[in-house]
Amino acid sequence: NTMRELKGLNSLEIQVKKSLGVGKVIIVSGNSDDSPWVKSELGRACAICMKGILAGENIIAVTGGTTMAAVAEMLTPELSKEMVFVPARGGIGEDVQNQANTICAKMAERTQAKHRVLYVPDQVSSEMYQTIVKEPLIHDVLTLIKSANIVLHGIGDAITMAERRKTSPEDLAKLIERKAVSEAFGYYFNEAGEIVHKVHTIGMQLDDLANVEHVIAVAGGASKAKAIRSYMKQVRPNTILITDEGAAKELLNM
Ligand code: BG6
Repeated sequence: NTMRELKGLNSLEIQVKKSLGVGKVIIVSGNSDDSPWVKSELGRACAICMKGILAGENIIAVTGGTTMAAVAEMLTPELSKEMVFVPARGGIGEDVQNQANTICAKMAERTQAKHRVLYVPDQVSSEMYQTIVKEPLIHDVLTLIKSANIVLHGIGDAITMAERRKTSPEDLAKLIERKAVSEAFGYYFNEAGEIVHKVHTIGMQLDDLANVEHVIAVAGGASKAKAIRSYMKQVRPNTILITDEGAAKELLNM
């Protein structure tokens, strides 16, 4: 519409898409670092985008984070389709309100859809892991996750995320030494987009993303520009990036 044209958002979308090489870019006005309502706008844009792609039966894998929590707030029963929301991965150290399990439950409640939970402890031995994944209930959820046709995820600044997750001093030092810039799904990446560290947990692994029909990444705020660029360094043609003007302008200045 005219408002978007006046603000140059459409042309900004084209520039960011070209610069990052992602499938599609949607930009909302404002900078979520400065105004909290911009995060809600990111959520609204994600809800609209989902409406456009939902068809038939959907298994939607979701990560945690405050942005995904904002997406949940914007979903409405109007979206109602065959949907089951599942957390993308097991515990990666978030507070309960930011956890994927909590967000999936909220999304399902707001759209009158279904959800499944994946409760795995954050720190377990690999033997324990082998046992856990064989549990029938967990096994079922893992099968659902592996067949997700839509993934919704956030992108974070590496050190911000590591601190928020109360990462051990050893791992934090490793992240700093390896110059981690971004984080998504519990994976940490450097500026070149290479994985420099990964939180060990079950569920979706980064390689699985390539087989997912629609991947929607939602992340905004000028402070996340570097992180967004780093994470998008891998070719991500099936990814739709939903971001804000603050992040977009900063991205293009880099
Ligand atoms: C986490 C996701 O929960 O949220 C991460 O697992 C993501 O992949 C992060 O980087 C982003 O959080 P926020 O609060 O900045 O949206």
